Amino acid sequence: MNDMINADMNEYWNGDGGHKWVRFQDRMDASLIPFGHKAMAAAAVSADECVIDVGCGCGDTTLEMARRVGPAGQVLGIDISEPILARARTRAASTGERNVTFERGDAQIHRFAPAAADVMYSRFGIMFFDDPAAAFGNLRRGLKPGGRVAFICWRPVRDNEWISLSLDVVAKHVPLPPPPGSEAPGPLSFSDPDRVRRILTSAGLSDIAIEGSHTPFKVGGTLDEAVEFLTQMGPASGAIAQSDADEETRSRIAADMRDALTPYDTGQGAVIGAATWIVTARNLKAG
Ligand SMILES: C[S@@+](CC[C@H](N)C(=O)[O-])C[C@H]1O[C@@H](n2cnc3c(N)ncnc32)[C@H](O)[C@@H]1O
Repeated sequence: MNDMINADMNEYWNGDGGHKWVRFQDRMDASLIPFGHKAMAAAAVSADECVIDVGCGCGDTTLEMARRVGPAGQVLGIDISEPILARARTRAASTGERNVTFERGDAQIHRFAPAAADVMYSRFGIMFFDDPAAAFGNLRRGLKPGGRVAFICWRPVRDNEWISLSLDVVAKHVPLPPPPGSEAPGPLSFSDPDRVRRILTSAGLSDIAIEGSHTPFKVGGTLDEAVEFLTQMGPASGAIAQSDADEETRSRIAADMRDALTPYDTGQGAVIGAATWIVTARNLKAG
């Protein structure tokens, strides 16, 4: 790994961000399964294919892909975060899938076996690159000629009620930090479809399709869990952390979040609107 590339994200995902992701892994996976399945449908893998799961996190989608490609297929999960990968490896050992490997690496520069993969897949793991065109160029070179890319990423805040609602609640208590630059690495950096198309085109990919998708987002199995989720994960949690809010303010934010989420409570957790892009592309180049 090169310490100069993606240095901030490397630090974040190997530090507090990664440890938090591991802590919330069960709930995160329960919430994100339908999103991952939509991108898997777009990837349309068949038995015996070779898949790379980019920014694979704790391995939920990597293991699911391994079941889909079957024993004759192969799946590699790559992630920049050691604590997150440690959880992925423990899970793989307990499920017994033999066609999965995990590697720590920065997908922007990792030396993938050239022209070996059928599919580069990701569930929300490709929005954190300093230089996304270079990163996708690197991913493309790991694909066979004709190989496919399929990933899911967030649409803008205005289309994502789970973000706008939680930011509105926080804004009543503390000043929101300025929104990140539209090209700054982070969860919303692929929200502009024109930018995504430019990135993939300059990476040498073809047949690019970007389709909008709406998925009910179940943020926690109870209302309390939903409050915890939205105050500790995602853009609202970042705003709270940056504000240095004291305990009393945090309690008031949590109480208001509960009120704001109550209309979305199904009795089995809050379900709230989420909008994503499902992006597919192909490598039609050799080398
Ligand atoms: C939002 S999480 C998604 C994790 C997983 N795909 C899931 O859906 O549960 C983003 C993941 O991307 C990883 N990541 C961030 N930058 C990366 C990079 N340059 N190379 C490889 N992985 C990266 C993080 O460590 C983290 O696990």
